[in-house]
Amino acid sequence: MAVLAQKPPMGWNSWNTFGAHINEQLIMEMADTMVAEGYKEAGYEYVIIDDCWSLKERVDGKLVADPELFPHGMKALADYIHGKGLKFGMYSCAGTKTCAGYPGSYGHEAEDAKQFAQWDVDYLKYDFCYFPVCADAKNAYLTMAMALRSSGKDILFAACNWGKYDPSGWMRSRGAHTYRSTGDIFDIPKSYKDIFKSQVENIEGNAPDCYNDMDMLITGMHGSGNVGLNGCTDQQYLQHFAMWSFLGSPLIMGADLRKIDKTNKDILLNKGLIAINQDEEYRPAFLVDNMGDKRYILAKLLSGNRIALAFFNLEYESDYLNTMEISFCDLGIHSGTGIKMKFTNAVTGESIGVYQDAFSTQVLPDECKITIAEMILPEKE
Ligand code: GLA
Repeated sequence: MAVLAQKPPMGWNSWNTFGAHINEQLIMEMADTMVAEGYKEAGYEYVIIDDCWSLKERVDGKLVADPELFPHGMKALADYIHGKGLKFGMYSCAGTKTCAGYPGSYGHEAEDAKQFAQWDVDYLKYDFCYFPVCADAKNAYLTMAMALRSSGKDILFAACNWGKYDPSGWMRSRGAHTYRSTGDIFDIPKSYKDIFKSQVENIEGNAPDCYNDMDMLITGMHGSGNVGLNGCTDQQYLQHFAMWSFLGSPLIMGADLRKIDKTNKDILLNKGLIAINQDEEYRPAFLVDNMGDKRYILAKLLSGNRIALAFFNLEYESDYLNTMEISFCDLGIHSGTGIKMKFTNAVTGESIGVYQDAFSTQVLPDECKITIAEMILPEKE
């Protein structure tokens, strides 16, 4: 079997904006938009249908796509998506029902995996509602992972157990290519900030074929989500996207790409941030300092002689102390060695300058500065 998640998967999922209000026309339009508006070119490849796509009951033991919503059936939709050079993702659940009450795959793993393979599915999100009390969660994910592997089709396994039983410790061994590490994200700043804080030191295991999934992106939703919240500012959406990119989370967009504004489209397409997320060495970021859980400095070793350094200010408001500084000592570079660091702004591509001993930058509340630093060794005397 091929390595299906060499790097964190990138794509779009229907849940955040549309919830149960999905149909094949919508999904096709989103696939069209991903190609026409440059998302595919930027690396987004999976088009994922979340919950609420099936009939409420199985028919002859099988999951059946709701014929009113998907009149041409899932195979036709898969063909359409593949015809666009994209990949097709679907959703089921490890419990007896999905979170929205549709049939789940518990006890039906074999036939459902076969069904998904027949529909030419490339990615399966596997949720965790209605899970039988005495059943073993780890085995439930293992069973589906093995069923998918036996289905005759390469299907990326996106496990979603919301961080229960610390999945960072066992999801890789049970076959997950990505695993959801927290409860659901919502379109408000507190939600993405809480997820960030809870996962910032929980990504050391990120490596090809298994990544910590911090949930889908809310960037650009501006309150249009299926649960009617107020949304975030553009600055916060950028901060959120930079966090997910930096921590190596899958980048699964959740906004309506047909309607998204230019600012947020540009955030989702930002080449510098995507390159950090998809860097060919896939090394996890690490925390340098979190200054009372309010201002975070992270580092992420990249391929070549580069290290990405991120400065996140999570304060809601503050009129002082917005300068964030990293002493190169915090990276083990002692003063007096003559080592310098050449800084570039990863978001804009602009050169910042060459620094010795320390680097400081202004980061206002809800802002982030994402930089790439290249080490310059001193010339020999
Ligand atoms: C759970 C998941 C969400 C979404 C819904 C669908 O809450 O965490 O991402 O899939 O179920 O019902």
